[in-house]
Amino acid sequence: MSVEPTVATTPAPEIDRRRLAELTGRQRELFAERTPRSGETYERARKVMPKGVPSSFQENDPWPVYVDRGTGAQVWDVDGNEYIDFHNGFGVMCVGHANPRIADAVKRQVERGTHFAAPTAHSIGVAEELRRRFGLPQWRFTNSGTESTMDAVHVARGATGRDTILKIEGSYHGHHDAVMVSVYPPLEALGDRDDPISVPYGAGYPRAITDLTRSVPFNDAQALERVLDRLAGQVAALIMEPAMMNINIVPPREGYLAEVRRITSEHEVHLVFDEVKTGATISPGGATQRFGVQPDIITLAKATCGGLPGGAIGMTEELAAVIADGTVHQYGTFNGNPLVMAAAEATLTEVLTADAYAQLERANERLRAGCDAIIERHGLPCYTEGMGAKGCVIFSSEQLFEYRDYLTKVDDDLSTLAWLYHMNHGIFMTPGVEEEWTLSVAHTDEHLDRYLAAFEAFASDLMGS
Ligand SMILES: Cc1ncc(COP(=O)(O)O)c(C=O)c1O
Repeated sequence: MSVEPTVATTPAPEIDRRRLAELTGRQRELFAERTPRSGETYERARKVMPKGVPSSFQENDPWPVYVDRGTGAQVWDVDGNEYIDFHNGFGVMCVGHANPRIADAVKRQVERGTHFAAPTAHSIGVAEELRRRFGLPQWRFTNSGTESTMDAVHVARGATGRDTILKIEGSYHGHHDAVMVSVYPPLEALGDRDDPISVPYGAGYPRAITDLTRSVPFNDAQALERVLDRLAGQVAALIMEPAMMNINIVPPREGYLAEVRRITSEHEVHLVFDEVKTGATISPGGATQRFGVQPDIITLAKATCGGLPGGAIGMTEELAAVIADGTVHQYGTFNGNPLVMAAAEATLTEVLTADAYAQLERANERLRAGCDAIIERHGLPCYTEGMGAKGCVIFSSEQLFEYRDYLTKVDDDLSTLAWLYHMNHGIFMTPGVEEEWTLSVAHTDEHLDRYLAAFEAFASDLMGS
């Protein structure tokens, strides 16, 4: 396919832009009126934390919503506002907040000691379950998605002796040097689609490291093949999300992942599926199972550990050997921490069961169908996408297949207004236009209906219908 971007944002012609701006102004005022204590907390927090947040992904204009507590599918902010949580901790809390099974598993472990930096039985149980789910034989643990993808890069480079890493343009894999490249590059910096420029995502990364990472467009196996032919013998790995989930949701085209597998194997390039988002959310065996294509390395984090900070990396026996023989050093004081492992084992064996995935899929379909009906009734220029626990409304009238589509077709202003409507109607959503909802096993039909009521209010006010 060929996509020629022209402008940064193509506003949907059906939208009355004045009305959109007015509604946005009104909703912004309402947001500020509803969250004054968050505003005060922000003033306190920013004296000690840049932007008043522990991670820049949590920042928000005019201030972040500071959360007090959560249970099941609900969260409460410091102003006492109750929300149904569709943010779910950036796609982590599929088990629901304060899930009693996870809490029990963690409490039991707290009483037996919280950290040893020596292996415990839970870590073996988790590795066995991940092997069963994802089909890769060997696993190690980390503390985050960033660490998982960093280790994946080290293992691939160590095993091949090659330095170049290939990634998909417009994808985020955590904040280490090798992957902070071409994450959300601006239109004018993209370069030729067949040979994109390696654009650092912010400052702090040496140019020499950035240049070792090259990007290719998603959903285009021929472009990948051309690049690998050109870089023959230089590329250690292709790291990719099998379904892109940081530019809303962009699923793989039919047959694309199988082609990627064929091409990478032919070029002896390791294929890394970054399943930090998809791993425990879209099927028991993540995207690997859902799309039926086996990579050489899988990186996990987020929902895998049921709300505790942990990650994992799965690999073939051949790649595990480079860790086992000391060629590559995979380290971490907190790797396999017993609290995290106890939570992960309970998550994977007791809460996110096969039945739970069926329930999440049904709930997601119901929510998408409800949104689709509203979109159609009001003639909104958008569509829904989703799978498993993940879904979203994409504010583009044309389907997205890759980052350049996202950059040129998504209407940020509509997305921002929808976010404000959700928040002001008690629907907790991720800040930013690129995210999606994540459902948990605690979401009921009534919770989904509240989402739909908020979306209906947005649609009718905007379209005047
Ligand atoms: C696909 C993907 N990989 C890696 C990461 C990094 O994970 P973490 O934030 O746990 O470091 C993220 C975070 O959003 C992600 O979406």
